[in-house]
Parts: sequence; structure tokens; C-alpha cells
Amino acid sequence: MIKDKNNMSYKDFLMLQETERSRIAEDLHDTTVQELVALSQKLDLANLYFDKDVTQARLELISAKKQIKDIIEDIRNTIYDLRPMSFDDFGWDASIERLYRDVDQKSDMNVTFDIDSINSVDNVIQITVYRILREAVTNVYKHAKASRLYVTLHIQNKEIYLEIRDDGIGIQSDIKENHFGMQFMREKVKLLNGSMAVDTGNTGTTVIVTIPIG
Ligand SMILES: Nc1ncnc2c1ncn2[C@@H]1O[C@H](COP(=O)(O)OP(=O)(O)O)[C@@H](O)[C@H]1O
Ligand SMILES: [Mg+2]
Repeated sequence: MIKDKNNMSYKDFLMLQETERSRIAEDLHDTTVQELVALSQKLDLANLYFDKDVTQARLELISAKKQIKDIIEDIRNTIYDLRPMSFDDFGWDASIERLYRDVDQKSDMNVTFDIDSINSVDNVIQITVYRILREAVTNVYKHAKASRLYVTLHIQNKEIYLEIRDDGIGIQSDIKENHFGMQFMREKVKLLNGSMAVDTGNTGTTVIVTIPIG
């Protein structure tokens, strides 16, 4: 079987692609589809109210409108993340800025991003580091119940040093059926000849990733 220099076979690569697809499907199901189902129920309710209580019906419609705006935003974000591997339109800085705004707005956490521009680094490395960073940040937002999130990225000694730190509940178990985020992070780091360390406990989690840039 053909192997690349990191010993990942093409079969592994195809597996990775398939599992990534299933994660996207799961994401769309968990957010967009469930929100649309709730929205549809809200509209049924508004319809019922119209005969008895027009004010209540109007309130339901206003709330439905807001929900539609949220769904549009979610779909936009999903599309943004699915774009082909190119930063041509947006670039590193804009993508990081967008990620920061997204997590800062959606959560009550105190969020600090201290991130160097890596525009001069190879494009594929930029995209991959962005995807790793995004997954780690999303994990904090989704699972950590943290009050602080601190993300730092620096270039030092010919490598990218990335740290994602939270003061949340810690990782109870990162092995769950059909959950692949952490696994993808590890695979991607491996493909770039980097290293990834996870330090977790009941005072929070720190993920440190280093990637050589030659
Ligand atoms: N920063 C974190 N704080 C607490 N728990 C975490 C954190 N990161 C990951 N986890 C746990 O590890 C599990 C696996 O994460 P992941 O592989 O990204 O899958 P998913 O995010 O789809 O659940 C999560 O379900 C969660 O329980
Ligand atoms: Mg995840």
C-alpha cells in the first residue's frame, strides 16, 4: 500500500475524509436541523394564537424572525468553514478575527486571543493550524463550562507554538462514539510532523500544539 512519509496510508486518508463528512453531517443536524424543527413548531403555535390572542401570536412571530436570523448566521459559519482550502478571499487575520467575534459573542466567557500573523507561512499549514485552533476553541465553548479562554499563537525557533487554555471542568473523556474533533486534531498535527499535548484536570484544560515550519 502507498504510504506518505508520515506513514498515513491513502486508506487512512479516505477514512479521515469520510469521518470528517460525518462530523459535518452531525453538526448540521445538531444545530441547523434542530433549530428549524423548533422554528416550525413556533410557527404552528403562532398560527394557533391568531384566533385567540393576536398579541401573543405577534410575539411568537418576532421570536421566530430572530431564530431565522440565528440560523442564517449558523449556516453562514458552516459554509465559511467548508470553503475549499484557500485563504485567498479572507486571509489569516480576517479568519482569526471572525472566530474571535463568533466565540466572544456566543459565550459569556472572557476571551483573549493573542495571535501572531502567520501570513508568510505555507498556505496549507495556515489552513490546517486554523482548523486545529478552531476545533480546540469550539471544544472549550461547547464543553468546558469555562469562564476564561486564552489562546496564544507565536512563531518561535522555526516552529508555530499554539496554546488553547481554559479554566473549565476538564475533559471527562475524549473518546466518544462518532466524536472526532480531538482525533482530527491529532491526525492533522501528525501530518505536519508536529506535536500535541493535552493537560487536563478539574481546574481546566490546556492544549499545546507545535508545528515545525522548516
Ligand atoms: N476543553 C474541553 N473541556 C472539557 N471537555 C472537553 C474539552 N475538549 C474536549 N472535551 C471533551 O472531549 C470530548 C471529545 O471532543 P471532540 O473529539 O472534539 O468531540 P465533540 O466536540 O464532537 O464532542 C467532548 O465531547 C468533551 O466531552
Ligand atoms: Mg469537538
